[in-house]
Amino acid sequence: MKKWFAVIGNPIAHSLSPYMHDTWLEEQHINASYIPVHVEEGKLEEAVNALKLLGCSGWNVTVPYKEAIIPFLDEVDNSAKGIGAVNTVVKTGDGRFVGYNTDGFGFIESLGPIDQTNRILIIGAGGAARGIAHAFKQLDFSHIAIANRTYANAKRLVEELQIGQAITLEEAEATIAQFDVIVHTTPQGMKNNTATLPIQLSQIKEHAIVADIVYNPLVTPFLEEAKKYNVRTVNGLGMLVHQGAIAFTYWNGVKPNTEQMVERLTEQLGG
Ligand code: ATR
Repeated sequence: MKKWFAVIGNPIAHSLSPYMHDTWLEEQHINASYIPVHVEEGKLEEAVNALKLLGCSGWNVTVPYKEAIIPFLDEVDNSAKGIGAVNTVVKTGDGRFVGYNTDGFGFIESLGPIDQTNRILIIGAGGAARGIAHAFKQLDFSHIAIANRTYANAKRLVEELQIGQAITLEEAEATIAQFDVIVHTTPQGMKNNTATLPIQLSQIKEHAIVADIVYNPLVTPFLEEAKKYNVRTVNGLGMLVHQGAIAFTYWNGVKPNTEQMVERLTEQLGG
């Protein structure tokens, strides 16, 4: 019987995940499809029951349901528990539904090979920062700093996750030369969002990597600024593709081609 997978969210119409997973399923000759499901506000439980009843083999969860879905699952793995959010649900052989969070590990994979001794600076202290910081911690990175406009939010996150240190944006700017990987997670610079750079990068290290989790536009103002200093930049498409690839591997037991997918999506988005 043909299997099916889904992504649930609101809004969902512009999700790139159906294209990405359908392409991978075809490449791997897996008889399945992946569909976007728009879930109306207040209808999450009914939607999850419907997915289960209709034999969905696994699904992704996106905004605004990543936290709210947890009570409707049979089990949540440690990283999703630590983050408090699920982006991937896997149906096990015995029909249980288990929640994972592949966003943070997907993000880290998108950076390419990096070292646990690398010093990490995360700018922003919202949900995305939380997932990424948690994944760096799980991979035993020893230097993680979170810089945020509202210092108290950075401090709370650092205390909750028991990682590194919280700093102000001013401190981040003044100490930028210490960091090997700089991750921008605020919505500043997304399409239709007027951009003010959270920090200046003039003192950045020569071999630093600067990453943004946003992929629309492909080059955010923050990455544009980083490019002036000839450092390596990574946009949010890598994170999208790698979080999807980890989910795909959970569901299908095979790894899809990530590099080619990043190229395809870059082309689709006009890069
Ligand atoms: P997400 O869950 O997608 O990460 P979020 O929870 O809304 O998004 O988090 C937004 C993050 O971006 C927060 O860290 C926020 O800083 P505050 O804690 O001070 O609100 C940060 N942010 C949003 N707009 C910003 C701006 N104009 N300048 C700097 N930081 C901003």
